[in-house]
Amino acid sequence: MLIAQITDLHVTRKDELLSGRVDTRSALKACMTRLAAQDPRPDVVLVTGDLTETATDEEYDFIVKALEALGIPFFVVPGNHDDRATMRQTFPGMAAGDPDAPFCFSIDRADWPLRLIGLDSIVPRRSEGALCPTRLDWLAGELGQATPEHPALIFMHHPPFRTGIAPMDACGVLDGLPAFRDLISANADRISGILCGHVHRVIHAAIGGVPVLLAPSSAHQITLDLKETAPLTFTLEPPKIALHDWRPETGLVTHYAYVDTFPGPYPF
Ligand SMILES: [Fe+2]
Ligand SMILES: [Fe+2]
Repeated sequence: MLIAQITDLHVTRKDELLSGRVDTRSALKACMTRLAAQDPRPDVVLVTGDLTETATDEEYDFIVKALEALGIPFFVVPGNHDDRATMRQTFPGMAAGDPDAPFCFSIDRADWPLRLIGLDSIVPRRSEGALCPTRLDWLAGELGQATPEHPALIFMHHPPFRTGIAPMDACGVLDGLPAFRDLISANADRISGILCGHVHRVIHAAIGGVPVLLAPSSAHQITLDLKETAPLTFTLEPPKIALHDWRPETGLVTHYAYVDTFPGPYPF
């Protein structure tokens, strides 16, 4: 199964640049062009949060049109820039329930070897994340339906570990992390990986042997500065998509592909 992941689209209002500098709408279009050209075609596209910059209907409309035009099944989870109720209107049926309830859902298609678990890690109107007992109880129930032969793939916005990028760790998962890590460790044999965004960089870690993989933004990247006093700044390092190839004999094999194209390929 080939899973494409894009994240942190931060689509702005029409004719607005993010921080006066980043054209996130054009960046998303370029990302869609790259995905459309992907051969073999991904089976699914997962979007790990911060879809919009300000959570307006119009920003979501722009995204849903772009995703639908791809013609590949897609699933989304919210980031700290998103709004649950507006996402429920934009993506009806994906996480049915109370408009403001955590946007959590799982997908278990007979023709897919993985159970996809979308986990909402947000705190409405806050930058930091949380994994409350309600969400963890729900996650435990979902993991209970996965098996080592038909494992789960969790996708969420906030990374469940310290990244070392201080201004992003300050708005990481501040609540519920020990219980989450215990739950993952206890079910490690039935979880193939955890995909995240939020930090706008490629970063890898593991919990109980389960890989936790962060993909970079489809638009702008957070500066790699590991000083404890690092300010929050961004760079225009080139955007990438993640391609996660899952097979029973290997588990996840992950590639990061530039959205931009470069000269080549050339024969040796
Ligand atoms: Fe973001
Ligand atoms: Fe975020």
